[in-house]
Amino acid sequence: MKKLISLLLVLAMALTLVACGSSEPAADAPAADAPAAEGVTTYDVGVAIYQYNDNFMTLYRQEIEAYFKTLETDTVKYNITMVDSKNDMAEQTNQIDTFITQGMDVIILNLVQTSSAEVLIDKVVAANIPLILINREPLGDNGDESYEGIINNPGVCYVGADARQSGTYQGEIVLALDNKGDINGDGVVKYIMVIGDPENPDAQYRTEFSIKALTDAGVAVEALVENVGNWDQTKGQEITAAALAQFGDEIEVVFCNNDGMALGAAAAIEAAGRKVGEDIYLLGVDALDECQEMVKAGTMTGTVLNDHIGQSHTAVDAAVAALNGEALQNYYWVDYVKVDAAYFG
Ligand code: BGC
Repeated sequence: MKKLISLLLVLAMALTLVACGSSEPAADAPAADAPAAEGVTTYDVGVAIYQYNDNFMTLYRQEIEAYFKTLETDTVKYNITMVDSKNDMAEQTNQIDTFITQGMDVIILNLVQTSSAEVLIDKVVAANIPLILINREPLGDNGDESYEGIINNPGVCYVGADARQSGTYQGEIVLALDNKGDINGDGVVKYIMVIGDPENPDAQYRTEFSIKALTDAGVAVEALVENVGNWDQTKGQEITAAALAQFGDEIEVVFCNNDGMALGAAAAIEAAGRKVGEDIYLLGVDALDECQEMVKAGTMTGTVLNDHIGQSHTAVDAAVAALNGEALQNYYWVDYVKVDAAYFG
């Protein structure tokens, strides 16, 4: 609630009483010249994160809070309520219902399932609360930037990065290798794909576009395993370990849709006695600090910076714009950056 507004209302009532000639204003009415509670406006911000237990979203959510703090002034404060939706759509729906009941001034939402976007958007729009969708893009029927709940509602926007770009960059990192990923020189790059949440366009696009970059460049490929690891490090390790046990030296490239799973894959690769950069290649996305260190050290072939700082700041800036009554764009995009050995010079 905008506390300033209630304060002004109280003041207005007090003044009205005075103006009406009441000689004795109600005892609890503030004097007209009382400091207007320092004139502070506090905005209530509801933030729902699909799952706290996610390496990338942990960095992202921490930066949302930190950045909101930097925007506070003597007269403007942000009261942030952030909740963990625990990868449970029913839980997240309840949380959004609660945000609405609590009268949040703006909501930032990292959907558990993009297929539920419409239901949640409808609720928030009906409550007249601006909504900033982040990280999981609901896709419209008509290609890019066409999701109806976004394009038809001026108070709703999406902030994210184009996952096709991240997939393409993974493929390009492989293409830049002297052997273009074909370690045994048989003319075919044999790979495994460790997939994030298959319902998430980030996972779909990275899976598709990493390989498309290779085939577009005329490189023959063969998928040995494509398995869902749901963005999770332990699952990434299990999938890679099982694939290495089954296909051994045949595996030349391990593509992971994110760094969390790539960290798991790295452990499996090491346990199998394989050496990244020598007899196998390993790719991730996110550029977590530890993965950047691995790329520098050569224990990971490459990753792609998923700019959580740029994205969180853009999301918060959009939220603040909405609070200030400014118009929102429908979509805000933040670029990915290719991170391979060349990136570190
Ligand atoms: C990140 C993943 C993360 C997912 C969560 C993706 O953009 O690359 O690491 O698990 O978002 O939705």
